[in-house]
Amino acid sequence: MRMSAENRNRRGKYKNYSEYEKEHLVRVEMQTAASAGLPAYHIRPKSGLLNDPNGFSYYNGLWRLFYQAFPFGAVHGAKSWAAVVSRDLVRWEYRGLALLPDTEFDSHGVFSGSALTIGDEFLLFYTGNARSDDGARRSCQVCAAMDKTGKFVKRFPPFISAPPAGYTAHFRDPQAFSHGGEYRMLLGAQNETLQGKILVYKSKDARNWKLSGELDFSERFMGYMIECPNLVFVDGRPILIFCPQGLAQSVAPYPNIHPNMVLVGDAYDDETNTILSDGTLRNFDDGFEFYAAQAMTAPDGRVLAVGWVGLPDTDTPTEKENWAHCLSLIRELTLKEGRLFSYPVKETETLRKERRDISVGGNGIWPVRTMGAEANRCELELRIPEGVSGSVLSAADENGENALTVSFDSLSGEVCADRSAVTGWREQRGDTVRKSKVSAGRDMVLNIFIDRSVFEIFINKGEKSITGRFFPQNGNGNIFITAKAPDPGAKIKGSFWGMEASVKF
Ligand code: FRU
Repeated sequence: MRMSAENRNRRGKYKNYSEYEKEHLVRVEMQTAASAGLPAYHIRPKSGLLNDPNGFSYYNGLWRLFYQAFPFGAVHGAKSWAAVVSRDLVRWEYRGLALLPDTEFDSHGVFSGSALTIGDEFLLFYTGNARSDDGARRSCQVCAAMDKTGKFVKRFPPFISAPPAGYTAHFRDPQAFSHGGEYRMLLGAQNETLQGKILVYKSKDARNWKLSGELDFSERFMGYMIECPNLVFVDGRPILIFCPQGLAQSVAPYPNIHPNMVLVGDAYDDETNTILSDGTLRNFDDGFEFYAAQAMTAPDGRVLAVGWVGLPDTDTPTEKENWAHCLSLIRELTLKEGRLFSYPVKETETLRKERRDISVGGNGIWPVRTMGAEANRCELELRIPEGVSGSVLSAADENGENALTVSFDSLSGEVCADRSAVTGWREQRGDTVRKSKVSAGRDMVLNIFIDRSVFEIFINKGEKSITGRFFPQNGNGNIFITAKAPDPGAKIKGSFWGMEASVKF
């Protein structure tokens, strides 16, 4: 397959990276670094656009994580993989671009994928996205191995050169994992009748992969395409995480343009590629922006996940500053009484600075009047007794206005995030409220992580979560907590911590 001159001299957002002037990259990096909305303990792009987390793994003493990157501007251009590494899952260091869209197989994007460690080999599996001269999409699956110098060497020909018969070129996002002494791979796919599917490939050596069939996990129509499938096992139970596009709201309600769904199965039959379950799908996160979560089993047995705090086909106000989106905190997935919990890994607590105690009684107000960085880069923990309701206003001005409002009611079990009053947010079709619900009439614990333009709210230590972006006015650094309790003696107790900036470039 030869690339024509026309295709080689790709234009616009599909230009070769080498064609961009150095000054252009320096300029967008400086613009990004100067943005008031930059998160400091969430992984964000050095410049340009970040989307899916990729290759989440542990190898040679380091946690490894990559993300879909287009460094030259906040648009979905030809993607590469940017690398970050960590010793503790919370302090990350940027290591530059690891895989570039520089071959005929991936000229229009090194798309999403995963990592696998086999002995002392560290392998990445990704989708090569290319366009033919007539503009038609071509998808193949490629492996890249880390060499002794830490560089990744792509292995050609691709280990899967094209979609199998009966499927379109929407065929991507390999998740490779070891299973029963062999290797399995899930791939997001679309069949020729435009139905979203997940394909299962099997291999004994992680080099030669054979199509085994479709993953059988639901009788229902899963939309026109499934992206980013992941299968992990928590306490032996299969957990399927995937992004169906075009899913009917009657199958599972979701508030965003595309959902990131989870299915908690009872058992996995590897012979027939079947997940046995009651079929109930739920949103991985109930927030505004959360997509393409990637999960993996860590060497210490924990199942860890990370998501893109962004969505396809949406925009953000930081585009004018030439950067967009970030990743979520790293979460641990656990099952409690059959329900999936997702909560930031315990290492996240090491980012906490000095603790300030919170106590709000009766119909009280507890304002943390910390201006500037600390109130906008913090964690709040609130223990809310049964029957108490109230709200947290975050990034508020001195009057408690223009804030992100998180209201809670332990009687109904409802938590609501409202970003309609946060100035600076370019309205997305008036879509400014997200709700989540846990069991009613119980004590409730809220952990709210604020990092400039991103928030993650966890209810009952991960029973539910609400994640999203917000763009407060620069300098609005007040937090107000109000409580309403039928019993004036009932108090909301809690803690406030400033958080360490933990992502280094
Ligand atoms: C999901 C996704 C993946 C694809 C990648 C391209 O957000 O569309 O399916 O591999 O992004 O950046």
